[in-house]
Amino acid sequence: CGIVGYIGSKEAYPVLIKGLHRLEYRGYDSSGVAMISDEGKLNIYKAKGKVAALEHFAESKDRSGTVGIAHTRWATHGEPNDTNAHPHASQSGDLAIVHNGTIENYTVVKKALEQHGYAFRSETDTEVVVQLIDYIRTDTGCTLFEAVREACHQIVGAYAIAVIDRRNPNQIVVARKSSPLVIGVGDGEYFIASDATPIVEYTNRVVYLNDDEIAVINRGESLHVFNMDNKESKVNIQKLRMSISELEKGGYPHFMLKEIFEQPRTLRDCIRGRVSADGKHVVLSGVLDNKERFLDAHRILIVACGTSWHAALIGKHLFEDMCRIPVEVEYASEFRYRNPVVSDKDVLIAMSQSGETADTLAALELAKEQGAFVFGICNVIGSSIPRATDSGCYIHVGPEIGVASTKAFTGQVTVLAMMALMLGRMKGTIADEAFERVTRDLHRLPELLQEVLELDTRVKDLSKIFTYAKNFLYLGRGYNYPAALEGALKLKEISYIHAEGCPAAEMKHGTIALIDDDMPTVVIAPRDKIYDKTVSNIQQIKARNGRIIALVTRGDEVAAKIADYVIEIPEVCECLSPILTSVPLQLLAYYVAVNKGRNVDQPRNLAKSVTVE
Ligand code: G6P
Repeated sequence: CGIVGYIGSKEAYPVLIKGLHRLEYRGYDSSGVAMISDEGKLNIYKAKGKVAALEHFAESKDRSGTVGIAHTRWATHGEPNDTNAHPHASQSGDLAIVHNGTIENYTVVKKALEQHGYAFRSETDTEVVVQLIDYIRTDTGCTLFEAVREACHQIVGAYAIAVIDRRNPNQIVVARKSSPLVIGVGDGEYFIASDATPIVEYTNRVVYLNDDEIAVINRGESLHVFNMDNKESKVNIQKLRMSISELEKGGYPHFMLKEIFEQPRTLRDCIRGRVSADGKHVVLSGVLDNKERFLDAHRILIVACGTSWHAALIGKHLFEDMCRIPVEVEYASEFRYRNPVVSDKDVLIAMSQSGETADTLAALELAKEQGAFVFGICNVIGSSIPRATDSGCYIHVGPEIGVASTKAFTGQVTVLAMMALMLGRMKGTIADEAFERVTRDLHRLPELLQEVLELDTRVKDLSKIFTYAKNFLYLGRGYNYPAALEGALKLKEISYIHAEGCPAAEMKHGTIALIDDDMPTVVIAPRDKIYDKTVSNIQQIKARNGRIIALVTRGDEVAAKIADYVIEIPEVCECLSPILTSVPLQLLAYYVAVNKGRNVDQPRNLAKSVTVE
């Protein structure tokens, strides 16, 4: 979900709508705005579906007012419809709220409020919060700020909220716990948003609210931030490093395609100043500054979700290969609800593009409590995970807007490779020759990716042959098994074709039963140390009349002869090969989805940033 808010001298509505468009990638089941009009009325407009539906709905309505809040939703409680969409109003009709997160004890609070005569219009946990604030305020006669603070004491869960009051159009009160909230500081005006993307075109001065903080934003005055015990905190204004052009499609039909094509540049940014061209040096300051913790580590744990989890699996290979440290990779959601054994000899890496994934954040907090050193690998600067970790390293690939992650994945693997090289050298577990070979290839990655992108037309043509397949199988081994998982995930996410990733050799223990001439299989078979084994797996599929698309190293003759279709990638050292093989698979998923007329950037039921559990 995404929140936007505005207070200042401009008309709020256009700012809110533009902000919602920028945040639409976070959720797009329904959206809504609330504004206090020039005549002092609280106007709330909501619509199911995309932000465009809301604009259409509000077209003929009173959209005046210089203060307002807005929301784009990814449903957690209640189905996506007009009633369940935010903003929600209090029964008195004075207050409106937008909320991102989940309130765990909402049924208890709701019951108590019902006893006080409150009736509820929606099924959402959010409406409970606004009614609670309303109740506290009416009952005690306190200010809105005090009522919000008291309500925050009573609710349990994760939230970022923004509240406005019809009776005071000069104020917005916001609060946060485990859900992101950024305040943009303009000239006599303030902007609120779940991330900086709606703010960047107005100001580059931002305040990231911390957990358990409440901010009172008064029109034309300075901003005041308090903790839950009413102690005022120092307002820390930071400079935003983001440009609007990064948030536009730049001539591409979809953000996803733009982001796929950006990868030579994003990887250049990712390695800039970190890898030397002669292959002699790799430096990540987050690792260097915490050298002892890494060198003392008995184990590395990597927690992540989705695509980030796939990148983490490649990290396991890299660290074990180069540093001889045992690595465990876990789904954050599983890790946090087991009773994991963690000690102060563990390093836990939290890997997350958005830096906001609720499960990953909770997993790292758990490991931290048990004494582990926690390190973040994230993309969004200033997001919650980098702020909760002991140290970390940004992947620096710029804002990723397409819901299906692409450039973040290659950036994550690149950072993991840099870390493994650095640690391997510090531990003496990697030979100089191997270190330099990999480092030189790292440095060449942008140009190699440029070559891979020339496969665009080839992949586009191939996609036409397979657009109407019902199932897809992706196979890979070693470093490329996670690339197979990621290829399958990309296709599932945006084309809605069922796809499965499988270790090529494991296939014979079950999955092979699915193979027939209707089932395309993508086999990732670069020339690596298990190449011959992968070729045998290709033969096993061929023997069952399967149709094979093989990703091979340029000049390959063996696998290429058996496969029905071949995609050739440039030669690169084995440990970096998933960075190259994943790109044609991103393109394949993209073109299949486009052929099917899918909404590539905003696939159904998905959200970019999952701040719910
Ligand atoms: C969502 C997104 C995925 C992403 C996952 C983890 O499910 O749709 O693309 O991989 O969250 O997100 P993170 O921001 O933690 O990498």
